[in-house]
Amino acid sequence: MSNMRKILATSALPYANGSLHLGHLLEHIQTDVWVRYQRLRGHQAYYVCADDAHGTPIMLKAQQMGLSPEEMVAEVQKEHEADFNDFLIKFDNYHTTHCDENRELASLIYNRLNDAGHIKTKVIEQLFDPEKEMFLPDRFVKGTCPKCKAPDQYGDSCDACGATYSTTDLINPYSTVSGATPVMKESEHYFFDLPAFEGMLKEWLRSGAVQEQMANKLEEWFADGLQQWDISRDAPYFGFEIPGTTGKYFYVWLDAPIGYMGSFKNLCDKQGLDFDEFWSKDSDAEVYHFIGKDIVYFHSLFWPAMLEGAGFRKPTAVNAHGFLTVNGTKMSKSKGTFIKARTYLTHLNPEYLRYYFSAKLTSRVDDLDLNLEDFSQRVNSDLVGKFVNIASRCAGFISKQFDGKLSSTILDPALAQEFVAAGDTIAQYYEDREYGKAMREIMALADKANEFIAVEEPWVLAKAEETRARAHEVCSLGINLFKILTVYLKPVLPALTEKVESFLNIELTWDDHKVLLTDHQIEKFKPLMQRVEAKHIEAMVEESKDNLKEQAAVQETELTKDPISEEIEFDTFAKVDLRVAKIAKAEHVEGANKLLKLQLDLGGETRQVFAGIKSAYQPEDLEGKLTVMVANLKPRKMRFGMSEGMVLAAGPGGKDLWILNPEDGAQPGMKVK
Ligand code: 2FM
Ligand code: ZN
Repeated sequence: MSNMRKILATSALPYANGSLHLGHLLEHIQTDVWVRYQRLRGHQAYYVCADDAHGTPIMLKAQQMGLSPEEMVAEVQKEHEADFNDFLIKFDNYHTTHCDENRELASLIYNRLNDAGHIKTKVIEQLFDPEKEMFLPDRFVKGTCPKCKAPDQYGDSCDACGATYSTTDLINPYSTVSGATPVMKESEHYFFDLPAFEGMLKEWLRSGAVQEQMANKLEEWFADGLQQWDISRDAPYFGFEIPGTTGKYFYVWLDAPIGYMGSFKNLCDKQGLDFDEFWSKDSDAEVYHFIGKDIVYFHSLFWPAMLEGAGFRKPTAVNAHGFLTVNGTKMSKSKGTFIKARTYLTHLNPEYLRYYFSAKLTSRVDDLDLNLEDFSQRVNSDLVGKFVNIASRCAGFISKQFDGKLSSTILDPALAQEFVAAGDTIAQYYEDREYGKAMREIMALADKANEFIAVEEPWVLAKAEETRARAHEVCSLGINLFKILTVYLKPVLPALTEKVESFLNIELTWDDHKVLLTDHQIEKFKPLMQRVEAKHIEAMVEESKDNLKEQAAVQETELTKDPISEEIEFDTFAKVDLRVAKIAKAEHVEGANKLLKLQLDLGGETRQVFAGIKSAYQPEDLEGKLTVMVANLKPRKMRFGMSEGMVLAAGPGGKDLWILNPEDGAQPGMKVK
């Protein structure tokens, strides 16, 4: 009987409206290493993924860009594929959820659920944008916090005071899509009957399909009671229309996980594989989803329930990981630690990150910190200082003094055996996603190999005729130990391994860790990896900050006839909240040459703003006038006090400076569009 396993692994599908960042890479590197390990063991292992193409944010983003959603998602998919490819993420297939396979599978699953009585309908009330004629997801509604009165808070919670409330409690709510005041509107929605699967889910969770930490979390959700899941959205929506309806679409999270199947189906059709062998109820294949801890709910409740209800097999396991932090905190644009995949690649070798993440990954759900200082140290000391060093210390002698041929005997079989024997432990660590432990084991062996070389001093042995043979044996064993470690690192360092394979004239599979090379011809050694340089890390962080610096510069520019600034995206512009304000009070500021201190009335709220318009206006001429202000500018501490906004003015400066002056009839607090 063959012990070849059939394995399908997936990573979460990235949304098709933004660039990949290092957080995505943590997950895809974790999955890729695991699948590469399985392939190396000779198993039939497939890794599929896709872009998650549907939903309101994607539809709106495409509109802003003046593209059709299909055009935009196609462009983003290209970018994602290039980024993944350059990080050496080796998918068997990368697809999109907006494809025929997924449409058919989503319909099939829905129809089966419906036939089995698991779909219900209910009329619900929701906020509706009367101008845009669309229902608004909570994140597209803002307003004033009912508790602390902070303006421009999101529909469910206030950033300023932390209060949580329902979107309908917001004071002066507005749609961030059009600025219009939303109204409540009824509509019929379709629901998936999740509670019907409670018993099955509880059992499945106890089967070892989720990590203990997650199982505990899921217990809490059961305790709160499972709810009917709203799976429909009204037109306009970018997605698949629900069969048998008009103007009702599958909610993006319904067809996203089905996208795993869709991508795999696409692969099956291309390669003549049997889809059912992996997805039918009696399948003996294994299916693994690698995801972040934030989407466990979807993968460990909705998804297995949908599969069960539609007569498919359930995942073997859902492997959740924690969030990525950089330098100990949430990735931050202002600190330059929100690092895009492409920005990293411009400055650094992808295998550094593959190694660093692997060295820190466990099977648990804990967050993982990328400390940039530790990153260089770890990579330089482990990969360059320990691992690659073994080969660079031994290779020269072999090629220069022994015609590139390894010795015919093994000098220290016990040492070699120790390296071979570690293979089982390391294999189990990979299997269990304990990559950190695997890397520590490998580096402990690398230390041993280096010690052995240091004690033997082949560079001394090589000098005298009577010890030359021993130098040959020392270096040959060094190369053999290096080869064994390369096998162990192959899932993590595929590009470096390729170089080693040409250097050693051999292709390495897992079982090669047991084979010792004697009388074997090797090639001339070429450097395998450069050290991480601090200046490259600095440049990467600097580049990650750039966007923000540009914005700040625009804010601080004096009003002049400068050429038009660099283009900004519409959504950057849309973030600027312009309001009509009445200048309630204007006064000189002691010690300031350019500034006037203004009290601006926003229709119920007063702001203090320092404006550089003293050269053009007398305070008394301003009082009572209307102007336009940026109302959501972060308050800035100035030498004379806090400035809580900015007044808009135009002109070359000096006397020729005009504050924007809305017509009578405008009301303080009105939004300017
Ligand atoms: O959270 C996300 O980024 C989603 N796009 C993940 C989807 S995973 C799967 F269910 F499709
Ligand atoms: Zn508040």
